[in-house]
Amino acid sequence: MCRFMARDRTAHGKLALSTGIAMHVRLHIRRHAGRLAVALVAVLSCMPAALAWGPRGHRIVAGLAEAQLTPQARAAAQKLLALRGARHLEDIANWADALRDTDPALFRRTKRLHFVNFHSHDCIYDPPRDCRNGECVVAAIDKYSAILADRTNPPAERAEALAFVVHFVGDIHQPLHADYRHDAGGNDFQVRWRGRGTNLHRVWDSLMLDSTRLSAAQFTDELAARRTRVEAGGAPAQWAEESCRIDRDDGVYPRSRFIDQTYVARELPIAEQRLRQAGARLAALLNRDLAHG
Ligand code: ADE
Ligand code: ZN
Ligand code: ZN
Repeated sequence: MCRFMARDRTAHGKLALSTGIAMHVRLHIRRHAGRLAVALVAVLSCMPAALAWGPRGHRIVAGLAEAQLTPQARAAAQKLLALRGARHLEDIANWADALRDTDPALFRRTKRLHFVNFHSHDCIYDPPRDCRNGECVVAAIDKYSAILADRTNPPAERAEALAFVVHFVGDIHQPLHADYRHDAGGNDFQVRWRGRGTNLHRVWDSLMLDSTRLSAAQFTDELAARRTRVEAGGAPAQWAEESCRIDRDDGVYPRSRFIDQTYVARELPIAEQRLRQAGARLAALLNRDLAHG
């Protein structure tokens, strides 16, 4: 059903273009407005739940990390990036999400690696319970980091591992990617944002960051210029536990379902701090894994 509607929409677009007559297109749209609206609603309602910081968040994390690489790690990363036709970590930061369209089979196999759901508000990570079969973001970072660090692995495999690591270190710092509320990381928590219905997960993945009107590059520069230090230490399990505690203690879940300016003024600085931590920790991880090439 969802696929059919999407294909239908593309066919419509091609038809309209090939006529090349704007008037005709306008008439056409008017005549079919009802059907188009229904199709649009169907397509939107078929859109899968968000799985990550939006593209901007991941680009920012990658950009912050790249600026903190050692010369050795930078050289090794550049070689691996080149295998994927890329030059910068930003270029591969959203690949793991793009798989949804570019390689649905691989996406299906990896989609549970973008988050971890905690058992309760104690925010204590218990792998057998919270990460069965190693299918969560904590185990994913450890797994792909090990593949990346092992120079006996084929370069293409290490390059893919690099793309996963860059993405997942971003995800684990998005508080709702390590949540305890049993609401799919806020995907099932409906809110209103600027007069529209959406969900809390989306507010954190994209809407709040996009509302700043800064480009990813400007946002990265702004965060990189901040003087206060961020802790680069710890391991993925701790990063996830931090995210869970932020959900619990720092007002991520609004009292009312309206996301207003007060909410953004309070929560955006927390999101920015998480991006900075993610960048610093990703850099530390890559500096370690790529220290010898
Ligand atoms: N699906 C289920 N839990 C999720 C989470 N915490 N983040 C993203 N997608 C999810
Ligand atoms: Zn993701
Ligand atoms: Zn997400």
